[in-house]
Amino acid sequence: MNKLILVTGGTGYIGSHTVVELMNEGFDVVIIDNLSNSEKSVLNGIAEITGRRPFFEQFDICDKKRLHDFFRIYKKLDSIIHFAAYKAVGESIEKPLMYYQNNLTSLMNLLEGMIEFKIPHFVFSSSATVYGQPDQLPVNEEAPFKTADSPYGNTKQIAEEIIRDTVNANDNLKAISLRYFNPIGAHSSALIGELPRGVPNNLVPFITQTAAGVRNELKIFGDDYNTPDGTAIRDYINVVDLAKAHVVSIKRMIEQKSKSDLEIFNLGTGKGSSVMEIVNAFEKSTGEKLNYKIVGKRAGDVESVYADITYANKELGWKAEIGLEETLLSAWNWEKYLRNKKR
Ligand code: NAD
Ligand code: WQD
Repeated sequence: MNKLILVTGGTGYIGSHTVVELMNEGFDVVIIDNLSNSEKSVLNGIAEITGRRPFFEQFDICDKKRLHDFFRIYKKLDSIIHFAAYKAVGESIEKPLMYYQNNLTSLMNLLEGMIEFKIPHFVFSSSATVYGQPDQLPVNEEAPFKTADSPYGNTKQIAEEIIRDTVNANDNLKAISLRYFNPIGAHSSALIGELPRGVPNNLVPFITQTAAGVRNELKIFGDDYNTPDGTAIRDYINVVDLAKAHVVSIKRMIEQKSKSDLEIFNLGTGKGSSVMEIVNAFEKSTGEKLNYKIVGKRAGDVESVYADITYANKELGWKAEIGLEETLLSAWNWEKYLRNKKR
């Protein structure tokens, strides 16, 4: 399909992998990214993998006038996939207004542009964080929102409401909100991956940096949860599998298969893994020994969350295909690539 798709945040972690999958499927892509959390060199990785270069526009989507000019130039847009957002939970607690401002203004500017320029399809990056600690596991899309434990989480809950109200009020607009569980890993080529700034908050980048000797030791946050080995459980999903679900979502809207104006899908593997299981799987797949120690729980962490993926499976015909060990190996290969580049 040679339709033109706008990918906001397309030089970021999940965005870059999605751009690759879209281009592999024949879509044309234009990226908007202000490079607040990514680098322009990501475009080289995308070009090397796909043999094509996406269009790239560097600016802040919160700049309404600039975005308006963009829509006037790129008249043939079919769909928007909106990744651009700030995503650090801890930082959002310290700087809530920065998070509400960036994550919600960017969304509203895009939706306004879609109405004015008649762009019919929207895919939104939501998060399992909207569920908090669910009452039932695996958690399905019908589960109620729990009070968000961070401004970041709040922005995802509010964003879904903004999208719902907007599609309800506009007949020609369709949206799909994808609730990601824990995206990890990198492209198998090791040419694109995650670029954490400073000390990583997330488990897998911390593990790979520890194995690479950048960090002294991994701190495992808590071993007295009510889980089989006492460490917390999450649903870790390969970023390429995740990226493919975006392509399927775009095609679903183009082919007019949506069952409602806003559809919501969980994107996970359906299987929970504990922190200790991730550590063991990393050591097994890479042959690297990890230096780790158990410390106290991290404030705000939930005990266990993993996805019910029945709905995504049935409606999107999508499921995760890449196993945990292969995914952790891809994360490690990416870390090694980064270290070599820095030498
Ligand atoms: P990322 O930080 O790697 O990518 C986001 C990109 O958006 C960055 O390149 C950044 O420079 C850009 N950006 C941010 N604000 C912008 C603005 N106002 N204008 C233009 N560009 C802007 O993050 P990611 O991990 O790829 O996450 C993508 C999306 O998925 C985010 O919406 C995030 O909240 C959501 N999400 C991520 C995870 C995760 O664990 N990575 C989990 C659930 C949901
Ligand atoms: C996973 C597990 C930690 C680091 C966060 C956001 C969520 C979503 C994804 C965007 C937890 C443990 C971690 C470490 C550890 N992002 N851990 N030592 O917290 O499930 O989700 O990222 O939407 O909103 O909250 O992911 O990778 O930080 O942690 O023991 O150094 O690893 O306690 O149990 P989390 P994570």
